[in-house]
Amino acid sequence: MESIKKSCIFYGAVINPKSLQSFSVSPQCLLAVDAIGNIDWIVDDVEPHTLQDVLASKGCIESEVIALREGEFIIPGFIDTHTHAPQVPNMGTGGQYELLDWLENVTFPTEAKFSDVNFARETYTSVVRRVIDSGTTTCCYYGSLHLEATKILADIVYAFGQRAFVGKCNMNRHCPGHYIEPSFEDSVADTQTLISYIRSLSPQQDNSSQEPLVQPILTPRFAISCTDDLLSSLGNLASSDPKLRIQTHISENKSEISFTRELFPSASSYAGVYDMFGLLRQNTILAHAVHLTEDEIDLIKSKDAGISHCPTSNFNLSSGIAPVGVYLDKGIKVGLGTDVSGGFNVSILNAIQNASVAAKVCSLQTGNSGSESSSMSAIYANKQLSIPSLFYLATIGGAAVCGLENQVGSFATGKSFDALIVNVRDEAGNPTIWGLDDTNFTNLSIEDKKKHLEGWLERFLFCGDDRNIERVYVQGTFVGGRTFRR
Ligand code: GUN
Ligand code: FE
Repeated sequence: MESIKKSCIFYGAVINPKSLQSFSVSPQCLLAVDAIGNIDWIVDDVEPHTLQDVLASKGCIESEVIALREGEFIIPGFIDTHTHAPQVPNMGTGGQYELLDWLENVTFPTEAKFSDVNFARETYTSVVRRVIDSGTTTCCYYGSLHLEATKILADIVYAFGQRAFVGKCNMNRHCPGHYIEPSFEDSVADTQTLISYIRSLSPQQDNSSQEPLVQPILTPRFAISCTDDLLSSLGNLASSDPKLRIQTHISENKSEISFTRELFPSASSYAGVYDMFGLLRQNTILAHAVHLTEDEIDLIKSKDAGISHCPTSNFNLSSGIAPVGVYLDKGIKVGLGTDVSGGFNVSILNAIQNASVAAKVCSLQTGNSGSESSSMSAIYANKQLSIPSLFYLATIGGAAVCGLENQVGSFATGKSFDALIVNVRDEAGNPTIWGLDDTNFTNLSIEDKKKHLEGWLERFLFCGDDRNIERVYVQGTFVGGRTFRR
């Protein structure tokens, strides 16, 4: 994307995820972004009367400072590790089905419409705009099986300045006649064409350690929809291209698992199918993982693959509850996914809310209704997810799953400025989130300001929506949000 940027400095409240157990709150933070959109430096606790001195010490006397208003704070952008762009048109329908019937009756017919490039352009333009405005700065998109429509999806993501992985589905069997790839050779050829096309949009700079904003991703839809020769060709493609990410579905639904086991009798398990074909590795994103066996969990851990937790979809398609606490205890990378339209909301806020509910239901089912600290044997398994854990999964966790942990997910010098300016008040200063404490913030002590900000974050995560997301930045560029001029 061509854009002329200049460095800028933000002054105000910054909330930064640190780990599954903590985040930092800096009510009076100075955060400088350089001309290529990376974070130059961060200074906490800058009193207004020392602002000019701090700026001078950084050699930035002339720099423009963007001062946040009371009620605003900055957080890292959200990372959606799993969604389907061509399913947005049927979001909120089909919840009466389970996975395989839902695919046949609801999803495949909708995706088939993306053979029409005009429909694809119109739909994807509104989809990507909506995803960005919901605060998703990095998104892992599945397209349909169509090469041309998926190129259009990548064009739009690139033009809008979102960070993303874009893949076209590989699917050459067990799909309806009107929506299936004619052969594994066609599927592989179109995949290779798409990879080259997306890489030509934003070529890697030789002198940059950072990866391009929009990247291709291998997308074998799921084992059921791919023949052995297709999976094996994709595995070969992957092995010749170690940086290429892979995304697929795993162990979402019991009927899906039985059918997969029937189709691949020689594989040790569902996860074993992907492993057998060289598709289980450190940059593989496995969506759902609701019903994994112990052996599969160990295999996934040993390969360092990541899991996309899609709780809304797992509830909506009656798939079950993924035991993410178990995965976190094992040290497996976990991020959140909206899985539209198995999930019925494009916003990661909704995934956060349902991840919280899912963890509580899981803990109730196992008779362990305590908070994270109530068992000695496990830290996260069968426990509630705390606010720091939920915030982590939506940001740092997602970045790790995408292999972007050094670039996005939190704020640190050298990382990309992918961020949201959140506002919990309206123009007149009144709370936009019901029940929010309306104390005059400016006159509070730093410690009291921190407490308020913690409360604001919690309220935003559970009661907020895109009306609270004022500005969305990707790589330092203002790309969306409520105040973005379109
Ligand atoms: N498994 C294979 N395809 C899909 C899909 O589109 N959505 C979900 N949730 N699971 C799948
Ligand atoms: Fe999915």
